[in-house]
Amino acid sequence: MIHLTIDDHAIEVPEGRTLLEACREYNIEVPTLCYHPSLEPFGACRLCMVEYAQPPHPSKLVAACVYPCEEGAVVSTHSESVRNSRRITVELLLSSAPNDPYLLQLAQEYGVTDVRFRMPEENLCVVCGLCVRACNEIVGVRAISMINRGISKEVSPPFKVISPTCIGCGACVLICPTGSIKLKDVIGYRSIHFAESDIERVYCQICSDIDLQPTLVKDIETLMQNRTGHSINKKEL
Ligand code: SF4
Ligand code: FES
Repeated sequence: MIHLTIDDHAIEVPEGRTLLEACREYNIEVPTLCYHPSLEPFGACRLCMVEYAQPPHPSKLVAACVYPCEEGAVVSTHSESVRNSRRITVELLLSSAPNDPYLLQLAQEYGVTDVRFRMPEENLCVVCGLCVRACNEIVGVRAISMINRGISKEVSPPFKVISPTCIGCGACVLICPTGSIKLKDVIGYRSIHFAESDIERVYCQICSDIDLQPTLVKDIETLMQNRTGHSINKKEL
């Protein structure tokens, strides 16, 4: 077992836990955006930064979702440096998704009153990578990926044309925390906004209704419920 201190609480966790997992286990609040318990941690959004020290060495800021718990560490989840870091991160995220309710709630909590940055084209994507990882790790088809770099980075199927491996499950749409990916759901076909062509819908041969994988839907519903406080109904899509 690993012993460390988080916000003055003595914590004991099995080896291999990340700081975020330890915080969640002990009900210590750390905001996240690109983290999902069913996916490999990615460390993209930087909302989960915490102050980490291994005395007598000086402290540093680390992303809790990817940083491992280490024996004797002293962690602060709400120090002044952490709050400063989150303030600028929330401001940067709001430049892409200015009306996202979760980010607006964090802006209020961290005192962000003005957003000094604006993306050239508003598309709501905060480049968290959840959609790409869900497509790869949960659905297993790798139909989308990140393309370009810097402020031009975006999610796309290859050559911006629907990938032949896409099954139109809508996992990317459901898991997207900002509503950036839109799905047109019409009887007989589906269209996902970043792709050019429509995908034929595949219905369950038993009930003719549910066309999303049930375990996937459960995972994503739990995520949305945790983030928004209410459950979603896939028929609302
Ligand atoms: S489209 Fe949504 S889920 Fe995908 S990277 Fe952008 S914000 Fe994240
Ligand atoms: S939740 Fe840790 S970097 Fe996004």
